[in-house]
Amino acid sequence: MNQHLSKRVSGAKRSAIRELLKLTERPDVISFAGGLPAPETFPGEKLAEIAAEELRERPQDVLQYSTTEGSRRLRDAIVEWLEPQGVHATRDELLVTTASQQGLDLVCKAFLDPGDVLFCGLPTYLGAVQAFNLFQVDKVGVPLNEDGMDVDVLQRRIAEQRAAGKRLKAIYVIPDFQNPSGITMSLERRKQLLEIAKREDLLIIEDNPYGHLRFAGTAIPPIASLDDEGRVVMMVTFSKVLCSGLRLAVMLARGVLMDALVRAKQATDLCTSKLIQIMAARYIEEVGLENHLETIRPIYRVKKEAMVRALETYMPKNAGIRWTNPDGGLFVWVWLPEGIDTEKLIDRAIEHNVAFVPGASAFVDGSGKNTLRLAFSLMDEEKIDEGIRRLAGVVEEALAALETTPIEAH
Ligand SMILES: Cc1ncc(COP(=O)(O)O)c(C=O)c1O
Repeated sequence: MNQHLSKRVSGAKRSAIRELLKLTERPDVISFAGGLPAPETFPGEKLAEIAAEELRERPQDVLQYSTTEGSRRLRDAIVEWLEPQGVHATRDELLVTTASQQGLDLVCKAFLDPGDVLFCGLPTYLGAVQAFNLFQVDKVGVPLNEDGMDVDVLQRRIAEQRAAGKRLKAIYVIPDFQNPSGITMSLERRKQLLEIAKREDLLIIEDNPYGHLRFAGTAIPPIASLDDEGRVVMMVTFSKVLCSGLRLAVMLARGVLMDALVRAKQATDLCTSKLIQIMAARYIEEVGLENHLETIRPIYRVKKEAMVRALETYMPKNAGIRWTNPDGGLFVWVWLPEGIDTEKLIDRAIEHNVAFVPGASAFVDGSGKNTLRLAFSLMDEEKIDEGIRRLAGVVEEALAALETTPIEAH
């Protein structure tokens, strides 16, 4: 039956992470693998109350189709929420989507033809890579350093691609607490990126699921807030700030870009669930996302601190192992010495009932074999400590097998 498959889907692989998650569902496994929000942050009771009331009192409205653009009430509530972050959107510049994964699908449908070049981080979000693969987009990786995407390398890659006669379209970035690395792009870097995009006439796809989950330090304005031309398309999902099961997000885009996205969404699902949109709108009106975020940020801070403390305690010293220490988001990223392949390490880790995501799948150039992602969001402090202790044991074994001469940690 293979002959019945489209070329598009034949070239797309199943997500290594989603396959791995199946293995880590065993209750005895301490899983740092899935990038799932902490379930104790979900406002179940309030949402149940709102849903019950809406279904009882306004079933003919909330069970009806919505417009493709999304409920006015929800978009108005989001306009107000984004305003203090310097994002001055009007209701018509917002498109409600069935979460940000759909946003990525719509970006591909609306802006990217097969063979078009898109620049992304090394590493980057695997789900985005899957969407780009499905649409046969040419992904060109650009390394990240501690301030985000390396713009010098980006400019070199742009020149190379132009010289090769390719059609360059977009830069995809996750500026805040990036998935998978936890790295945040500095303000200076955001400005430089926007300048490059202007000069080279590229779109910036700014994917921002984690910016609001900042639990320390000062917020950095989104790239969209610096954009005076409408070349930044920003996606903000409710998955991490409210709950992932609602499958709800918003895209900010202007002019013809918005029009193209609306046409793409019409052909994809007509509209996002009206009931879900009204539930979110009422939650924002009655509780407020900022009030909710204030209650959940400390939960993530405690977990992140527990993870970094455990890494400092248990990981072999002076072995060239380092990790990020983010001020928000869900992830810590670990670099092991060159020569250790984390895709091989994962089997051993699962034998020890601990799981992580090997980093290589997040690198579109096949590098990053010595890296891994740890989500601190799902486990409690005790499990984080125990899980990192087990992981450190597995890393120690791998180091012994490597027979590396110890080098200074950095
Ligand atoms: C960077 C990034 N973009 C998009 C998504 C998709 O989120 P959702 O479809 O739940 O909105 C995720 C989920 O983890 C993510 O990390």
